[in-house]
Amino acid sequence: MVFVAVSVALLCLARLPAVLGHAGVSSPPIRRPGNNFLQTCGQASFASVTGDPTGHIEEQEPVNAGCDLTLCRGMLFSDQPASNVQTVKASQAMEMSVDCTIPHGGPANVSLVDTTAGGSGAIIGSFLKTFSDFCPTTGPTPTDQTNLQYTLPDAETIGGKCQTAGDCVVQLFWATPDFSQNYYYCVDVVMAAAAPPPPSTTPVVVQQPTVVAAPATTPPAVQPPVQPTVVNAPAAASSSAKMVTSATGSAPTALAANGTTPFSAASANAGRRRARLLWF
Ligand SMILES: *[C@@H]1O[C@H](CO)[C@@H](O)[C@H](O)[C@H]1NC(C)=O
Ligand SMILES: *[C@@H]1O[C@H](CO)[C@@H](O)[C@H](O)[C@H]1NC(C)=O
Repeated sequence: MVFVAVSVALLCLARLPAVLGHAGVSSPPIRRPGNNFLQTCGQASFASVTGDPTGHIEEQEPVNAGCDLTLCRGMLFSDQPASNVQTVKASQAMEMSVDCTIPHGGPANVSLVDTTAGGSGAIIGSFLKTFSDFCPTTGPTPTDQTNLQYTLPDAETIGGKCQTAGDCVVQLFWATPDFSQNYYYCVDVVMAAAAPPPPSTTPVVVQQPTVVAAPATTPPAVQPPVQPTVVNAPAAASSSAKMVTSATGSAPTALAANGTTPFSAASANAGRRRARLLWF
């Protein structure tokens, strides 16, 4: 492992191009080259990608049969560390940090792409973001390009796809027609497992009487205030404490012996018990 890292680093130094190109995605981690990519796409392609992580696929010549440069520059899921796979949810808001190191302009877009053999390279749903002039040659780079924000397709669109790491990537695809250069950046994503069903015991919601507000057009003067019925129990009489229903709601309200201190609905039973002790 250390040996591989050191030799890749040496390779990078040896092949450092005169100009490091174009646009880099600094987060989340994008697909990187590895040994399986080297075997599939060949030494020249491997050297090109390791030499310029921001480069375009036209630099990766010659192209081996079986090396699909238009899918993540040919870089393979099997070379990626598991920690680079982003666990996501449908409709999740995401962002990508982009450095436009050498602005070229040209169209670019972001999409969720099915990388399985069956759907190789097919976009799932529609483009999540499109730009007509990405990393423009004039003026400052718009912040929605350097801090590129997008939202993943909804659950219905994704369906059963992207359930397994390696099946899907978020792809930033940028072309500069003036130079005939095509750039592909891939972020591996996998759908989070479905949430477990909610617990069967749901909290009891206590219904409170609600006073319905009068319509704004009604003058308040002609609208008599809605009052709960107050039943006065004689202070020393033998009548029981009364249960009354407020004028505006169905929940019973217990009244205290002197009729001025209503109990909450929740303590109605306790109030009734207390009342019996007092007056029976
Ligand atoms: C997506 O980007 C590619 C590469 O720049 C471009 O060729 C294509 O027209 C774009 N499509 C949309 C719908 O933006
Ligand atoms: C009656 O109302 C008063 C004033 O709200 C309260 O202080 C008192 O505890 C209540 N109950 C009795 C039994 O007096």
